[in-house]
Amino acid sequence: MLFGDLREKMNPMKKLIVANWKMNPQTEQQAIRLARAEDQKGVVICPPFPFLDGVKGKLKKADLGAQDLFWEDPPTGGGPYTGEVSVLMLKRLGARYVIIGHSERRRWLGETDEMINRKVVSAARGGLKVILCVGEPLSVRKKGLYAAKQFVKSQLRKNLKSVRSPVIIAYEPIWAIGTGKPDRPEDTLTMVRFIKGVAGSSCRVLYGGSVTSQNVKSFLCYKEMYGALVGGASLKAQEFRKIITIVKKL
Ligand code: PGA
Repeated sequence: MLFGDLREKMNPMKKLIVANWKMNPQTEQQAIRLARAEDQKGVVICPPFPFLDGVKGKLKKADLGAQDLFWEDPPTGGGPYTGEVSVLMLKRLGARYVIIGHSERRRWLGETDEMINRKVVSAARGGLKVILCVGEPLSVRKKGLYAAKQFVKSQLRKNLKSVRSPVIIAYEPIWAIGTGKPDRPEDTLTMVRFIKGVAGSSCRVLYGGSVTSQNVKSFLCYKEMYGALVGGASLKAQEFRKIITIVKKL
C-alpha cells in the first residue's frame, strides 16, 4: 500500500482520464463503490448530480466533475430556473471540472451552440475547468476529414465566443460514441492538430468515443493527446482500471 502510494507520487499520470458515467449507476451505493475503484490521480469522475456529494466524500486522489450546469450565475447562486444547477452549487459540492456540450445533450435536450457558449462562459468565470465536447455526425465524416474539420471549427468558434481562459476540448466524433466503433487514431490526431490550430496550440484535447483498454494506447501515445473521455468503459471498474494502468505507463 505504502509502496503503491510512493510509486504513484514518483510517477504521476501525465494524461487525464475523464470518466463520464452519464445517467449511471442506479444507486448511490453503486456509485460510491465504482468511485472507490476508480479513485486514482489523473482521473476525473463525473457522476450524475444526485451522486456528486456522496462520491466526493469518498475520493482521495481523483477529481470530481459534473456532466452539465446552467449558465445563469446570480451572486446568490440561486434563481427561478426549475431543474437547473449553478456553477456555485457545483463548486460548493467540490466539483473542479464540468463537461459541457456533450453530443447527447445537444441531441436529446436541444442544446444549441449559443446555449453551450453561455454555459462555457459561466463555468469558466466561476472557476470550474471546462471540458467542452465537440465532434461531427456520421453524415459529415462520410464526406471526409475536410468536412469534419469545418464542422468542428464552426462549433469551436461559436462555443468559445468571448471565452478567454483555457478550456479542455474533448473531440468526440458522434458516430464513435457508445458504438464500439472508435475513430482511427491517425484521423483523430489530424483532427486534434486542427483543433489546436483553431483554439490555440496550448489548448488541451481529449479523445472520446468507444475508448477501451484495447485501444486507449493507440490514441494516447501521441504527445498531442492530453487524455481521454471515457463513457461505457468507465462503468466497468476492472476495465477502467486496466485503462489507467496502461495510461500510467505512457
Ligand atoms: P463511450 O462514451 O466511451 O461510451 O463511447 C464517450 C462519451 O460519450 O463521452
